Amino acid sequence: MRILAVETSCDETSAAICEDGVITSNIIVTQHAHQIYGGVIPELASRIHTQHIVSVVDAALKKSNCILSNIDVFAFTQMPGLVGSLLVGACFTKSLALVHQKPLIGVNHIHAHVSANFIPQQKPAFPFLCLTVSGGHTQIFICTNFNTFKSIGTTIDDAAGEAFDKSAKILGLSYPGGVLIDQLAQKGRPIFTFAKPNMPQYNYSFSGLKTSILYFIQKQMQINEHFIQDNLHDLCASIQTSIVTILLDKLFLAAKENNITNLCLAGGVAANSLLRKNFEIMCIQKNYSYFIPPFEYCTDNAGMIAMNAYYQALDNNFVSLDTTPSAHCV
Ligand code: KG4
Ligand code: ZN
Repeated sequence: MRILAVETSCDETSAAICEDGVITSNIIVTQHAHQIYGGVIPELASRIHTQHIVSVVDAALKKSNCILSNIDVFAFTQMPGLVGSLLVGACFTKSLALVHQKPLIGVNHIHAHVSANFIPQQKPAFPFLCLTVSGGHTQIFICTNFNTFKSIGTTIDDAAGEAFDKSAKILGLSYPGGVLIDQLAQKGRPIFTFAKPNMPQYNYSFSGLKTSILYFIQKQMQINEHFIQDNLHDLCASIQTSIVTILLDKLFLAAKENNITNLCLAGGVAANSLLRKNFEIMCIQKNYSYFIPPFEYCTDNAGMIAMNAYYQALDNNFVSLDTTPSAHCV
């Protein structure tokens, strides 16, 4: 079974091909045009998707040595995301399914981040917990099979990636700042401490942390107006350590209380070096099995959409041509 999947939920235009459960191409074009605005401009994102989608799909087909008539199933990101951007991928993919008279699959983007863990040959055993951390979402899922992911914890305000990006903005770094904080933190020490959220169960909150960082920096700048420049590496290391500690504390609490010893990471923030390192160390200490998708499948990509679609296709989870995308999960 050959699947062509398209991802256009935010600011990456991506297409991938999955052949019998193996990803054979994953082409990603990131839209850098948003950088100067400090965040993604939805209308601009949709327009850039329309400019890139044909060449991105073409490149994926070429890399996998196939043509459109070889494709058995077409898949697109249905939700959540920027609705205009989702529409570009949905309309494009639906047209292909219609022309080639092939079945169609609408994929939940957050679930697809989890499915990125199924891309490597060695797959996690069920049940496993997956900490799914991206720019828009922070969730802990209990996964009992390839298609059943139950959310047991989420953020009540900002997502983890948002916490990274907003903190970066406070430091005057460009968008998206998560990766910059990661890079600058390499030479820093986590010497500053910030407010820790106190959320019930496995839920998260990051807006208090952001305010705590802002107030701390404002106060320090009254004493030394160059405080940020003088302490940039240590500030990045401290912010990164705070976010990573909050994320992992809840994940390992959920693992302990639910008696689950297989753990996974997913989403753009799973590219963070400290999160990956501490996750690994803690899993080894507790003798848990652990999985992290390769870098290219952590941030937004169509490979994960194709992998999610593969298991849905095996379950005959197809959608009709009148299925519409949605900004939120329905
Ligand atoms: O999954 P993703 O590509 O898009 C969404 O679905 O939102 O995640 C993007 C998020 C951004 O907030 C970005 O700053 C963050 O992932 N991110 C990182 C790193 N790389 C990407 N955050 C921290 N450290 C990184 N190395
Ligand atoms: Zn994502």
